[in-house]
Amino acid sequence: MGRLDGKVAIITGGESGIGRASAGAMVDEGAQVHLVGLDADALKRAVAELGDEKAAFTQADVTDEQAVQAAVAEAIERFGHLDVVFSNAGNTGAVAPIEDYPSDEFARTLQVHALGAFHMIKHTSPHLGAGASIIITSSVVGLMGFGGISGYVAAKHAQVGMMRAAAKELTPRRIRVNSLHPGPTSTPFQDSIEMRATGLGQEEAAKTFDDLIPLGRHATPAEIAKTVVYLASDDSAYMTGATVAVEGGLLL
Ligand SMILES: NC(=O)c1ccc[n+]([C@@H]2O[C@H](COP(=O)([O-])OP(=O)(O)OC[C@H]3O[C@@H](n4cnc5c(N)ncnc54)[C@H](O)[C@@H]3O)[C@@H](O)[C@H]2O)c1
Repeated sequence: MGRLDGKVAIITGGESGIGRASAGAMVDEGAQVHLVGLDADALKRAVAELGDEKAAFTQADVTDEQAVQAAVAEAIERFGHLDVVFSNAGNTGAVAPIEDYPSDEFARTLQVHALGAFHMIKHTSPHLGAGASIIITSSVVGLMGFGGISGYVAAKHAQVGMMRAAAKELTPRRIRVNSLHPGPTSTPFQDSIEMRATGLGQEEAAKTFDDLIPLGRHATPAEIAKTVVYLASDDSAYMTGATVAVEGGLLL
C-alpha cells in the first residue's frame, strides 16, 4: 500500500529538479500527478516516463491567472479530484547587489514565487476537501538572509506569509498548508545561481557552496522529495502552518 494511494496532486515546476523528483516519488506512493510548468518538451518527457495513467500536464506560467485556472480545470477533468497542491515553480532572479539589481527582475521574481503561489491556492482551494495538503516550496533563504539575491530572498520570505495566511484561512475546512525550505539542492536552477554568484564553473562553484553547508554537501532532489511526500501524506496530518527546513544545517 502506498502512502498516497488514491490521491491526486498538482505540481508546478513538475518537469524539472525538485518538482520532477517529487512527481516520481508521489507516483511511487500511489498518487496520480498533474504537472504544470513552462517547458513543454520536458513536461511531455516527464509524463511519458511516469506513465499516461499516472500523469498528465499543462504548459502554463503561474503568473498568468487564466493559465493557472485552465491548468487546474484540466487536472480536475483528467483525474476527477484534487488532494495535494505542490506549489513549487520558481525562477532565480538576478544575482547582483541591491544597488545594481534590475527592478523589473525584482518584480518578476516576486510575481513568480508569491503571486504564483497565490494563484495556485486561489484556484485549487475551492476543489479541496478535508485532509488535503498544500505545500509551497520556499527556500532556506525564506528563513534567513543571503547577499546578492535580494529578489529571490524577498520572494521566498513572501511565500512564508502566503503560507501562513492560507493556513489560517483553510484550517476550518481541515486543509493543511505548510512551506518547505530546501538548502542548496543539485538542480539546473541552483547550478545557475552558484555559477553566477561565484563566477566559477559548475563543479568549483558547487564546492564553494558545499563549504558553507554544515553537512558538507548539496541535497539531491530525491532527498527533498521524501519530505514532500511526507507533507503530502496523512503521516503529517497534524502539521499546518509549519516551515519545514531540509537544509543540511544551514540555519544552525
Ligand atoms: N535547487 C535548490 O537549491 C533550491 C533550494 C531552495 C529552494 N528551491 C526552490 O525549489 C523550486 C524548484 O526549483 P528547482 O531547483 O527544482 O529548479 P528547476 O530549475 O529544476 O525547476 C524550476 C521549475 O519551475 C518552473 N517554472 C519557472 N518559472 C515558472 C513559471 N513562471 N510558471 C510555471 N513554471 C515555472 C520551470 O519550468 C521548472 O520546471 C523553486 O521554487 C526554487 O526556488 C530550490
